Amino acid sequence: MAINNILVVGAGVMGSSIAQVFAAYGYKTVMADLKQEFIDKAFSNIDKNIAGLVEEGLADDSYGKTVKENLTGILNSDIPARGKEFDLVVEVVPENPAIKKDTYQMLSDSCREDCIFASNTSGMDVFSLTDEFLKNPERLVITHWFNPPHIMKIIEVVKGPKTSDETAQAVREVLEKCEKKPAVLNNFMPGFIVNRMATVICRELYYMIEQGWVTPQDAENALKYTDGLRWSFEGPLELWDFVGLEIPIAVAGGVLPTLCDNKEGIPLGDKYIAEGKTGVRAGEGLLKKYPADVDAYVKKRNRRILTMYKVMNEFEKEDAAE
Ligand SMILES: NC(=O)c1ccc[n+]([C@@H]2O[C@H](COP(=O)([O-])OP(=O)(O)OC[C@H]3O[C@@H](n4cnc5c(N)ncnc54)[C@H](O)[C@@H]3O)[C@@H](O)[C@H]2O)c1
Repeated sequence: MAINNILVVGAGVMGSSIAQVFAAYGYKTVMADLKQEFIDKAFSNIDKNIAGLVEEGLADDSYGKTVKENLTGILNSDIPARGKEFDLVVEVVPENPAIKKDTYQMLSDSCREDCIFASNTSGMDVFSLTDEFLKNPERLVITHWFNPPHIMKIIEVVKGPKTSDETAQAVREVLEKCEKKPAVLNNFMPGFIVNRMATVICRELYYMIEQGWVTPQDAENALKYTDGLRWSFEGPLELWDFVGLEIPIAVAGGVLPTLCDNKEGIPLGDKYIAEGKTGVRAGEGLLKKYPADVDAYVKKRNRRILTMYKVMNEFEKEDAAE
């Protein structure tokens, strides 16, 4: 499955940055959206992204030139005429079943049957949604990128019941060529890997806070200064290997019967939502109050992610040299 030409359908927050990544790594990439003004906005988002990378010393002038050379924009209405050109289509339209369904119907009618379809859904079962009409469902897979895609390296590649190994492998290869870290999940399940684990951790932390056992800041620090520090070079599985399995497995035996097992929801989270304290964009969340300038917050956050990647790259080089 040779992949050279890529179509990204939906050039919004995620789609524009995803298209930038493919174009930067030499793939002939086309972004499609409903209106020309959305395409124009996507190109201006990409300009801002590139300026941020240059500022951090992570891209030079040739990066921007390569993106511009390889990236073009079209309207969704052009897809039926152009569909046969593409080897991979990445679907990044809004998280709405009717919109996703219509999009796949159009793609199924417009593209070659060997063209791979990769959905950036956050959690929708696109496999069931398209099962009755999709030609060749073996080529449908989820690729779940994290925001912002041009910075975050992890991409969850989720196989549906009919997704072929060849499809998952071809997508993995493209992502690796873009210096990403695909993690393949062989079975569609809510939350995939990352959000599933975030749910486990935060359900327990919210529970401990709700019980009055710990303050939000102390809970935050306990995780940030242990796992937060270590996970950049030694993930949870390697950590247990390092400690020696007898200890954590014995600890788990005592902890498991006492864990929160609420399957209905996270009541403390509901309380904060009802009070309008939903986080950074609302100016206040569970942990603290946040400044009004959200853009500045996002910029600082992106800079910190990039700084951590620089360190992680050094660790990876060290490991590779051993
Ligand atoms: N924003 C995130 O942090 C994030 C993270 C991971 C996954 N996702 C997923 O990525 C997908 C896109 O999210 P986003 O945040 O980029 O959304 P967005 O609203 O910023 O972008 C969606 C784009 O799709 C376009 N579009 C193309 N065809 C369309 C059609 N037929 N009908 C309506 N709109 C159409 C819209 O005009 C818009 O530009 C969703 O499935 C979302 O769940 C988002």
